[in-house]
Amino acid sequence: MRSPASRDSSDMGEGGRPCDQVRVRVPATSANLGPGFDAFGLALSLYDELVVTPGGSGVTVHVTGEGADDVPRDESHLVVRSIRAGLDALGVQVPGFTLRCENRIPHGRGLGSSSAAIVGGLAAAYGLAGEPVDRERLLRLANEIEGHPDNVAAAVYGGFTVAWLDGTVSDQAGGRAVRLDPSDGLGAVAYVPANRVLTKEARGLLPSAVPHGDAAANAGKAALLVVALTQRPDLLLTATEDRLHQEFREPAMPESLALVHKLRGSGLAAIISGAGPTVLVVGGPERTCPVPPDGWERHDLRVDPVGVQVWSMEAG
Ligand SMILES: Nc1ncnc2c1ncn2[C@@H]1O[C@H](COP(=O)(O)OP(=O)(O)OP(=O)(O)O)[C@@H](O)[C@H]1O
Ligand SMILES: [Mg+2]
Repeated sequence: MRSPASRDSSDMGEGGRPCDQVRVRVPATSANLGPGFDAFGLALSLYDELVVTPGGSGVTVHVTGEGADDVPRDESHLVVRSIRAGLDALGVQVPGFTLRCENRIPHGRGLGSSSAAIVGGLAAAYGLAGEPVDRERLLRLANEIEGHPDNVAAAVYGGFTVAWLDGTVSDQAGGRAVRLDPSDGLGAVAYVPANRVLTKEARGLLPSAVPHGDAAANAGKAALLVVALTQRPDLLLTATEDRLHQEFREPAMPESLALVHKLRGSGLAAIISGAGPTVLVVGGPERTCPVPPDGWERHDLRVDPVGVQVWSMEAG
């Protein structure tokens, strides 16, 4: 029988003892938030859960929920690859394991499913190694796999994150982030359409250069958005204005842009979530959002305050 004691390995002091089973909960994330292109991230109360049980020499993968019909069940599975990358980085040998995924974050919709898979897998590796999670290092490893730090930062730290790439100090090169507390009661409504848009398709629509005036406007709005999200929710509508990416994505997601315009026209701080096509409304508890268009799902969400969590179960 297993001990009832389960530990959040992010709080484990001693480390170093391999575990019998590792459970991970990792949040969905919304990147960009309008003007914070490639930098801002918000962790949301929609979670993927993983259970990893070491044993044997290969991998067995079970998936329920979102993406279950599409993802591979072998070493190429993104969570499996991330667990392997984490174990390599930690210098720990775990030849085989069984992975169970309960997915709630929709894939290819702009809610950070790939980041959750990567951060969840890396965090599981810390649990398997019996080591406390080093969130700074986890972010750097996750950024190497994902290729950009905005979503992975929010999945690692929770709350509202501002991420950047630090190439100036060689032993700390890579993804970095600061976490800020969103203002009390801040939440989000996600409008999720049925169709997917892959990140690289949505990125391919962006121009290689933008007018100086647009860049300047975005810099100001991004700075204002930090204030709006943390202290002044009354400024969210103006602070979420963007001139660098959202409108360029319209050919890939015309219904999403139409919904953004409609919601903003009624005073709601609506943005394209990540690379889309999900539309996110950010606001305080007083916001009232309309019912979704036909065929779209609506999720009423809180901000996740803590980021990825790991519980390592030990034999009794
Ligand atoms: N839980 C998961 N398990 C395995 N693979 C996953 C998982 N989540 C995402 N993926 C992989 O990532 C792909 C989706 O990544 P993509 O970056 O295009 O969208 P997203 O992460 O959902 O949205 P965004 O990056 O815009 O926030 C899926 O098609 C799948 O290959
Ligand atoms: Mg992604």
